[in-house]
Amino acid sequence: MSINYDERIPNNVDLSSDRRLKRALEKWLPRYQSWWNDVGPQVFSTNEIYLRTAISTEAGGWANFDHVRMPEYRWGIFLNAPEKDRVIPGGDDAGKPVWQTVPGEHRNSLKRLIVTQADTEPASVEQQRWLASTAPSLYDARNLFQVNVEEGRHLWAMVYLLQAYFGRDGRDEADELLERRSGDVDKPRILDAFNQPCTDWLTFHCFTCFTDRDGKFQLGALAESAFDPMARTCKFMLTEEAHHLFVGESGMERIIRRGAQLAKLDPNGDARNQGGIDLQTIQKYINFWFSYSIDLFGSEISSNAADFFASGLKGRWRESKDYTEHSALNQTRAVTQVQNGQLIDTHVPLRNAMNEELRESYAKDCARVVRRWNKALQSEGVDFRVTLPSTRFFRRQGIYTDFHFNREGQLIDEATWEANKDSWLPTESDRAYVQSLMKPVHEPGKIANWIAKPRRGIHGNDFDFEYVRTDS
Ligand SMILES: [Fe+2]
Ligand SMILES: [Fe+2]
Repeated sequence: MSINYDERIPNNVDLSSDRRLKRALEKWLPRYQSWWNDVGPQVFSTNEIYLRTAISTEAGGWANFDHVRMPEYRWGIFLNAPEKDRVIPGGDDAGKPVWQTVPGEHRNSLKRLIVTQADTEPASVEQQRWLASTAPSLYDARNLFQVNVEEGRHLWAMVYLLQAYFGRDGRDEADELLERRSGDVDKPRILDAFNQPCTDWLTFHCFTCFTDRDGKFQLGALAESAFDPMARTCKFMLTEEAHHLFVGESGMERIIRRGAQLAKLDPNGDARNQGGIDLQTIQKYINFWFSYSIDLFGSEISSNAADFFASGLKGRWRESKDYTEHSALNQTRAVTQVQNGQLIDTHVPLRNAMNEELRESYAKDCARVVRRWNKALQSEGVDFRVTLPSTRFFRRQGIYTDFHFNREGQLIDEATWEANKDSWLPTESDRAYVQSLMKPVHEPGKIANWIAKPRRGIHGNDFDFEYVRTDS
C-alpha cells in the first residue's frame, strides 16, 4: 500500500479513479488549509520543522523525516491494506463477511461515531495553537508540531470516510468540522475535554498522555468494526497515535524526574523553590486529566453501547485477537452503583457495559504508564509515588456524576469534598504557578529548568539537533 504523492491529495485509495470524490475532496482542501492557517500553530507557523510524513502503511519504515514548513505538509488519505477474507469481529453477525459499504439501517449511528471522532482531531490543534510560544525546548516544539500535523491528518482520515460513504450529508458534516471551534461559546467542539484551553506544557503532556490515549482506545474499538474502510482507516491512525502517546508519556516522565531532582536540591525539599514543578502539583494534574479523559468513554451502563456492539459498529479493545467468544450475550459484568447512599456491586448485561469494558482496558494501560513514572522516581531515590485516582473520582459523565468520591473512590459527602478538593485537583494558584514557569527556550540544545532532557532525540538525532529552523 505505497502512497501516491503525485496527486494534489496524497493517497493510497486510488483517488484518481473516483472523479466525484476527488473533486469533493479537492474542494475541501483549500477550506482545510485556511482553517489550518487561522487556528493551527501560530508560532513558528512558517518555519522549517523536522517532521515525519507517511510514505507507506507497511509496518516499519513507513515514514520519511525531513524539514518542512507546516502549511506545505502533505496531508492525505492513508488506509491500512485490506485484510484478506476479514470477518466481522464481534456482535450479532460475528464471523460474517465485513461490509464495504454502509448498510442503510446503520447509516446514522455510523455517521455519528465518525463525526464525534473526527471532531476531536482539529479540536486539539486549536487548543494547542499558541503553545509553542512557551516551548521548553525546540525538541518539544517539534514534538508538538508533529502531533498537530498528524491530528490534522486524522481529520483527513475521517473526512475521507464521510465524503466517500455518506454522500451529501457527509460533505455537510465535513464542512461543519471546519466551522466548530474549541472553546467557542456558540459553536464549541462536541466533547468537553476538547473545549478546555491548553496553555501550559504540563497540561499538554497530560493531554497527550491521557486524552490521546482515550483516542487510542476509541480508535481501537472502531478498528474492530464491521465497516471495513473505517477499520482500515483507524488501524493506520493507531500507528500514528503511538508517537503522540510517547510524547505525553515521556514528557510527563521528564517533568516528574526533574521535579524529584529539584526537590532533592532544595534544603526544604520543595521543588518550587528551585523553579520546578513539585510532585504534589503534578499528581493533581494527573487526577484532573485522568478523570476528564475517562469521561470520554461514556456512561457505565449504556443501551447505545450495547447497540453499537450488537450491530458490529464497534468492538472491544483487540476484539478479534484477545477474545474467543464474540457475541457477549448471556454474560454480565459487575458495575458498582450508588443505591440508597451506598456503593453496591450490581450485575449488568455485558453488552450494556461495553463502555466500561473499554474504560477498563484504558485504565490498565494508564496504570502501566504510571508504573514507569514510578520507576523514574525510584531511580531518583525519592519516596513519592504517583497514582491514578479511582474511576469514580471527579466525574462529570456517567452514573457517578451526581455524587462525590474521594481519590480512592469512597463515597463522601459534599462538605468532605469541599474540604479536600483543593488538595486533589489543581487550584487557581497551582495553575498560575505552572503558568509562571512557561517561558520559551527557543535555542537548539537548551532546555527549561522544570523539565529534564529526553534520553535521546528524534529519529536517531541528538537533543541539540535543529528540530526547528528558527532562522528559516
Ligand atoms: Fe488523532
Ligand atoms: Fe493523537
